[in-house]
Amino acid sequence: MRKFFPVDSLARDSRFNQITMRQSQADPRTVLVGTDAKQRPNSNRLTPQRPDASDRARGLMHGIFVGEIQALEGAGRTCFDFETGAGDSTDNVPFALKLDMARQAWDEARHVEISVKLSEWMGTEIGQYAENTVLFEAACSTDPVLRLAGVNRALEGLAIDVFTTMKEFGDIAGDPYLEFCEDWMLADEVTHVKMGSDWLRRITENDPERRKKALEFQSVVDKIFSFGGTRSDSDESPIGLARRFRELAGFSDDEVEDIATVSLAALEERKAFAARARADAVDQFSAS
Ligand SMILES: [Fe+2]
Ligand SMILES: [Fe+2]
Repeated sequence: MRKFFPVDSLARDSRFNQITMRQSQADPRTVLVGTDAKQRPNSNRLTPQRPDASDRARGLMHGIFVGEIQALEGAGRTCFDFETGAGDSTDNVPFALKLDMARQAWDEARHVEISVKLSEWMGTEIGQYAENTVLFEAACSTDPVLRLAGVNRALEGLAIDVFTTMKEFGDIAGDPYLEFCEDWMLADEVTHVKMGSDWLRRITENDPERRKKALEFQSVVDKIFSFGGTRSDSDESPIGLARRFRELAGFSDDEVEDIATVSLAALEERKAFAARARADAVDQFSAS
């Protein structure tokens, strides 16, 4: 069986439409709801009261669904791509790490099934929204520690934030299926992030350079997802930062603060961009 499988060779049937990370970067002007201040809600958080709540929730759920498939594929690859060893170089990992990845693959397979049923429940068809392949792209690193940092810590850390927001959405919307499914998946994701945190610390205990490189990669992935202020502590972000669950998942207080700072800075940047775009539109209108 082939090792180090490239993202463009993932097996998908004709229902799926894949886009790469670069293609999927949203235009920040489209992130804010409307350009008329009176129509803009005080909070941009995903709540059932939003006029676009149904479409946004279904789109997010479809994003979770394809993320689960890629998480399954990534964890499976990490079991197979590397030799079994002490984890002292990039070509091998301890057997216990492979066991953790196998357990994760099992969890993700269950999440895929739950996500398919939930999407159907919400009225969505497979492939109705594009599949962003960023998670698997982060799982293609040739250093297993970078995979743990980019996938388990950055992207599954984001999954903790997304599941927490969706769970609250299900609660407020009075949808117990959505609420409980998100809660169950959230519990597993906390375990996956914790596995990433624990293995990253253990493997790089005597290799500060490798640890630094892995944490830098994690921070790059975190920044990509903070783009446009999609996730932050502010109510103006659709997705909140789940601080408590991140603590449980092995993030230090400083790490949580770093993510909060980067996310808020991205939100401010987006707002400034949107304000400039609105001002330009008014100028163009006045000049015409
Ligand atoms: Fe999952
Ligand atoms: Fe996961």
